[in-house]
Amino acid sequence: MVKIAVIGFGNIGGGLVELVERNKQFIKKDTGKEVEIKYIVDIRDFSGHPLKKKIIKDFNIVLNDPEVSVVAEMIGGSHPAFDFSLAALKAGKHVITSNKEVVANFGEILLQAADDNNVSYLFEASVGGAIPIIRPMRESVSSDNIIFISGILNGTTNYMLTSMLKNGKTFDQSLAKARELGYAEANPSADVDGIDTCRKICILSALSYGKIYNSESVYTEGIRNISKRDTNDAEKLGVVIKLIGRTEKTEDGKVFIMVSPRMITESSPLFHVNDVFNGILISCEALGDLMFYGKGAGRIPTAGAVLADIIEVIKHIDTKQLPPSKWERADDSTLADYKSIPMVFYCRVKGDKIPDGLKEVSDEDGEISFVTERTTQEQLEKMLNGYEITSLIRFDV
Ligand code: HSE
Repeated sequence: MVKIAVIGFGNIGGGLVELVERNKQFIKKDTGKEVEIKYIVDIRDFSGHPLKKKIIKDFNIVLNDPEVSVVAEMIGGSHPAFDFSLAALKAGKHVITSNKEVVANFGEILLQAADDNNVSYLFEASVGGAIPIIRPMRESVSSDNIIFISGILNGTTNYMLTSMLKNGKTFDQSLAKARELGYAEANPSADVDGIDTCRKICILSALSYGKIYNSESVYTEGIRNISKRDTNDAEKLGVVIKLIGRTEKTEDGKVFIMVSPRMITESSPLFHVNDVFNGILISCEALGDLMFYGKGAGRIPTAGAVLADIIEVIKHIDTKQLPPSKWERADDSTLADYKSIPMVFYCRVKGDKIPDGLKEVSDEDGEISFVTERTTQEQLEKMLNGYEITSLIRFDV
């Protein structure tokens, strides 16, 4: 019998409890072991809840119970999630999480603690919701040279952009619906300002290049500034606008990571990724382009990814540990300056004239928009010296 403690009985924690109960027979058939959720830890009041006998407030009870071998950390936020995870690993318990904030901020410490204590720290659900992405990166892509990763990594903003662009909803209406559907973070600024996407692309970058950058050091733009004029121009150009997290190695050995809205052409597999779906395009030297697609947020899809990790741990529970993922904290000076990376830009400026040789998109209401050749932002800003830039959206090419 494998006994599990679920820490945090919110959206994903609740979904996990539901899935474990529903799939007990299947788990037994697949792993040869019975599972039981012994404790649910949450400081809130669940006195009327049907599972109230399992619900406790004190995490130390879990730590000191040798029967509990798997801890599912479903709290969210950095603290106490990190502290509880570290304590559980040090107590010889496997820890599974969907918490990208903790993985991005403290992953190297927790992975080392797992290794030191001969247990596993697994985080499949931290990136891409239901999409199996961490495991393929760990097991299948790890021997290849990754040229770049470009991903729609946030279900909330992709749902919002789709509902704003295709269904004519406002920003506030779309966000309210995404919250109602259980896609958004407790503080949805993490979604709409790109912070959540940034944590996820930093995790994928760490799995690709062995080092994790501080997400605060990565240039990050969200979707708040996308205007009707931007989307009208996108339609004219036959492209869509998506919030993209991108990582790649530069020629001088630095890592370029950026989060920003991007114009996606129809030739990209990311073009058709809509609603709450995420899409992750990994371009590899030997394997070529790989595309991962699936639901990026939501109670049951995300809990399903957590359960997949639990099942993996149970299958290996007698041999204790899975091959560990490991990374180090990177030195920020090895992060490439985003203004030095050549890109194609959609740009809008005040006035009715643009520098020669640029492809005009529209000229309305005292603003003129155009698309550049591949250039750096540094060069673009020099070229547009004296112009007031009202919109700048990069192409994902
Ligand atoms: N708020 C996140 C999203 C949840 O919308 O993608 C899944 O990480």
